[in-house]
Amino acid sequence: MTAAPQKRLYIKTYGCQMNVYDSERMADLLRPLGYCATETPEGADLVVLNTCHIREKAAEKVYSELGRLKPLKAARAREGGAMIIAVAGCVAQAEGAEIMTRQPAVDLVIGPQSYHRLPELIARTHRASGERLAADFATEEKFDALPNERAVSGVSAFLTVQEGCDKFCSFCVVPYTRGAEYSRPAAAIVAEAERLAAKGVREITLLGQNVNAYAGGLSPLIRALARINGLDRIRYTTSHPRDMDEDLIAAHAEVEALMPYLHLPVQAGSDRVLKAMNRGHTADAYLRLIERVRVARPDMALSGDFIVGFPGETEADFQATLAVVAEARYASAFSFKYSRRPGTPGAAMQGQVAEAEKDDRLQRLQALLAAQQAEFNVSCVGRTLPVLFEKPGRHPGQIIGRSPYLQGVHVTAPQSLIGRIAAVAITRAERNSLAGALAHTPVLEPA
Ligand code: 5AD
Ligand code: SF4
Repeated sequence: MTAAPQKRLYIKTYGCQMNVYDSERMADLLRPLGYCATETPEGADLVVLNTCHIREKAAEKVYSELGRLKPLKAARAREGGAMIIAVAGCVAQAEGAEIMTRQPAVDLVIGPQSYHRLPELIARTHRASGERLAADFATEEKFDALPNERAVSGVSAFLTVQEGCDKFCSFCVVPYTRGAEYSRPAAAIVAEAERLAAKGVREITLLGQNVNAYAGGLSPLIRALARINGLDRIRYTTSHPRDMDEDLIAAHAEVEALMPYLHLPVQAGSDRVLKAMNRGHTADAYLRLIERVRVARPDMALSGDFIVGFPGETEADFQATLAVVAEARYASAFSFKYSRRPGTPGAAMQGQVAEAEKDDRLQRLQALLAAQQAEFNVSCVGRTLPVLFEKPGRHPGQIIGRSPYLQGVHVTAPQSLIGRIAAVAITRAERNSLAGALAHTPVLEPA
């Protein structure tokens, strides 16, 4: 690769893990052009905001950040430099050119399916002419255009296998911002995973808005990835209950590398609300599915997403959500107040719930979920768990890793264990993590 003059790139990522992956790939794409990532926007030549549109708050944050960037761009111009500001991701897809009207400091708007065109668009911006908007859908083209080389740091990496969603839940913008379901070819995914493993990655999280809708089945792909040398842990997120097929459940019993953690959103517990949400499953179908998963993998850590205050949700409907939570027993969860997203069917529905009511329901739901998370963490105390160590901890001498159940685990242990899996006796449960000590025979593998 030629040594281009160094330019400073600042990327700020909002939202889901898919955006984290996309940001990494944008950095990979721009590296050959001489862009080096920096931690702060001051003095940057290129600022990319990789945005999220899923809830109103997420979208508004982008405009606040743009407001903060505007004076930095002016300062850079006074120094005789130029700061290109690009808005990428789902806000770009949803709002397009409107972003530049609302904040003229923005030079480029680039949707999630078009970021492979960043180098070209930047070149055009430099010439101060031509197209400044790229928000059309062509996922296949994007993956073909991305460089194979990935700058990986660390032992755990994300890998996008599927994008988009055809489910059209009535509250959700994803089918509009990310487009139709598209699955990458298995061969390309396996090749990318092999390159990651060769660079020392031990754990891969397969990403997709509907990852278990992966064409050809997610379980055959997982089984193929499990054969890669050095790849000890496989995870996937996010799954839809409708696509949880029997072989994927079986894989949880059969594939050692497949971690016992399942993010399976239910969103609500009332069948009436689930129907209005267009979820395509009932509360009972969800609970029976969880049961089957736990037959295959009794220690499965279950995670979920919840929305309170969907239009028309009554107190009785909300009680049904609490009842599903009580029965399903979550190890972790994400819960949100319904946010009215323009263009989605939910936004036009009768019976929008008052903000104060949503606040109250969210508090009650989160109290129950927090108690379940604490209970799950406490149930790990006294067990010995394999921990994949990722980085130094906050305190001297400490290192941090993850349990199979995705809990953070901190231990006083030599830094040389980073990148390795060791057995840890869990001694204490904290709110969001576990503490432990190296077990008597800690290292579970040859050096
Ligand atoms: N309002 C609130 N939460 C939402 N989510 C998606 N759309 C909305 C919305 N309009 C939540 C869902 C989804 C998670 C990623 O975000 O719970 O699973
Ligand atoms: Fe959105 Fe529903 Fe698709 Fe998930 S399954 S991305 S909530 S439309």
